[in-house]
Amino acid sequence: MNVLVTGGTGYIGSHTCIQLIEAGFNPVLLDNLYNSKKAVLERIKRVTGVEPLFIQADVRDKNALINALQANNIEAVIHFAGLKAVGESVEKPLEYYDNNVHGTLVLADAMREAGVTRLIFSSSATVYGDPASVPITESFPTSATNPYGRSKLIVEECLTDFQTANPDWSITLLRYFNPVGSHPSGSLGEDPQGIPNNLMPYVAQVAVGRRECVSVFGDDYPTPDGTGVRDYIHVMDLADGHIAALKHAGSKPGLHVYNLGTGNGYSVLDMIDAFAKASGKPIPYQFVTRRPGDIAECWADPSKAQRELHWQATRNLEEMTRDAWRWQSSNPQGYPED
Ligand code: NAD
Ligand code: UFG
Repeated sequence: MNVLVTGGTGYIGSHTCIQLIEAGFNPVLLDNLYNSKKAVLERIKRVTGVEPLFIQADVRDKNALINALQANNIEAVIHFAGLKAVGESVEKPLEYYDNNVHGTLVLADAMREAGVTRLIFSSSATVYGDPASVPITESFPTSATNPYGRSKLIVEECLTDFQTANPDWSITLLRYFNPVGSHPSGSLGEDPQGIPNNLMPYVAQVAVGRRECVSVFGDDYPTPDGTGVRDYIHVMDLADGHIAALKHAGSKPGLHVYNLGTGNGYSVLDMIDAFAKASGKPIPYQFVTRRPGDIAECWADPSKAQRELHWQATRNLEEMTRDAWRWQSSNPQGYPED
């Protein structure tokens, strides 16, 4: 089956592409390279023996999408493309609504014209806002606290309405918790531009000597050690979740919503400690004030995906940090420039 993967050279997209190839699918990658590099394609080939077809295009370019869908006999789309930095979204809300909301509407419209009716969308646990309790199930109320989160929520609502109007479509909303780690080969990984916003890539850059010290945002949360608790999930498990969604939900008309998480929560200090063990390097850190908008704790109830998609995360914290370190230590500056 030919699958169009928007945002396919990005962090989660590239790992999903490998698992698609390993599972016998034929991914076609589409990306505007705003936050990723072409070098990813060669790395995918190194791991799988297959260099996937790549189309450099923007998801807001409807003609490019229609061409990509028709010329490649695409049967399903996995839509990763978008902007994802929470802080930046507060500064540049229009860019976020344009890429994430408008981009998805153009994609859905192009799919309709091309007659492709199966879509898997990258949503986020951020749509749960500050949850009243944990673990979080898919039926928890949704809300947004910043433009990035609101863009995900708006897209979820637009796609829900669109699916209601087009009951033969299969639309799957996957709510990711905190993806970390990399392909176990160390050939692919997370390569943020500039100062990393997220904890794990920051810790990895401290371990490799690119940065001096991790700032731990808050030590006074109502959690066991006072630091924030999250559901970190190995990116390969997340990638496998997409294959499961394609196989089990993607073939059924309807609107499907799943949490992709492990069901376990780890604190910031747990992550620093695990990374120090995996890398054998000291990870200096200092406590600073809370980051505005952060919540104390967030982890998934992943049982719906387990039941209906026959998927569950299998890789533990040691594998997440070991693989992240393998990528970071063998590619200290990330991917080579194109
Ligand atoms: P990423 O930035 O590595 O990948 C996104 C890709 O989309 C990049 O390669 C970028 O160049 C491309 N892109 C952006 N705007 C585009 C456009 N208009 N047209 C074409 N391509 C465009 O991010 P990621 O971590 O792989 O995230 C993938 C998706 O998962 C995003 O939608 C993100 O919001 C969502 N998500 C990520 C996380 C996370 O922590 N990484 C958590 C929850 C949800
Ligand atoms: N943290 C630090 N120092 C840092 C970075 C983060 O202490 O330098 C802490 C945060 O305060 C939080 C935890 O580490 O307690 C995780 O923070 P991240 O920025 O890595 O991840 P978030 O949980 O804030 O958000 C991530 C993605 C969002 C997504 C959300 C839920 O960035 O896009 O997971 O999926 F919506």
